[in-house]
Amino acid sequence: MKLEKSTVNIGLEKPLKILHVTDSHLAFVDERDNERKHALARRLSSPEKEKYFYEHLEYGKANCDLIVHTGDLYDFTSQASFDFARKVLADEKLFYAVGNHEFSQYVGEAYEDRAYKMNSFHEMGPGLGVPLFFNSRVFGGVNFVAIDNSYHQFEFWQITRLEKEIKKGLPVVLAMHVPIFEQSLYDYHIKRSGEGSSSYLAGCDEDHLPYDEWRAVEIRPRGATMQMVEFIKSRPSIKAILAGHVHFSFESMLTETLPQFVTGGGYEGIAREITLL
Ligand SMILES: [Fe+2]
Repeated sequence: MKLEKSTVNIGLEKPLKILHVTDSHLAFVDERDNERKHALARRLSSPEKEKYFYEHLEYGKANCDLIVHTGDLYDFTSQASFDFARKVLADEKLFYAVGNHEFSQYVGEAYEDRAYKMNSFHEMGPGLGVPLFFNSRVFGGVNFVAIDNSYHQFEFWQITRLEKEIKKGLPVVLAMHVPIFEQSLYDYHIKRSGEGSSSYLAGCDEDHLPYDEWRAVEIRPRGATMQMVEFIKSRPSIKAILAGHVHFSFESMLTETLPQFVTGGGYEGIAREITLL
């Protein structure tokens, strides 16, 4: 496991240690899943990804107060992955924001919109045992709020819910799968992936969308998304954002006072220990 370390001063009386893990991309199937999913699992599952995931859990439980997982816990929907997720997420020590792969039926085969997402959600039957689209938990004097932006969009009702959370008067740490657009993060992403590549962030303006219109349609921010980004940037009680999705680590400031921590792929062993002071 490769551990990175960061610190944020949010004015706590007693420091809190968070282990941020994201994008574990595990793959499970069993006799309830069809042959197409079995073939995918043969291609995508690996003992190394599982080893890293359990190392992260073990390290977080032994050394941190809370583990925050920001999605893509598994790679594609399957009955075996749902069972795995329910078991893992039942652990009180883990706080979770959902990723796009939690709704991916066969990995990259579909246009990802709300209808597709809800189809996958219904496939889960009783869900994954925790609220997937918005969740909050007060822990150690901090209000951890998870918001589903797994398809690069926010929804209006999530702004109303976040406003209610802010009214509790505690420092807020946001957990979400897709990072919010910030110029240096965007530039670094393009530099890593090469000229002509695309970045996949939430709240990109027209100049920063993928060139491929098929992808741009998914990512182009709708009204609620831009409104949520502005809302987040304007609330000083929001102290940090934890995100993943892009599979590399990057730390930058969304505003003068709001850091965004993007953590690399858990499937590669990366995790970030964040000390909240
Ligand atoms: Fe993702």
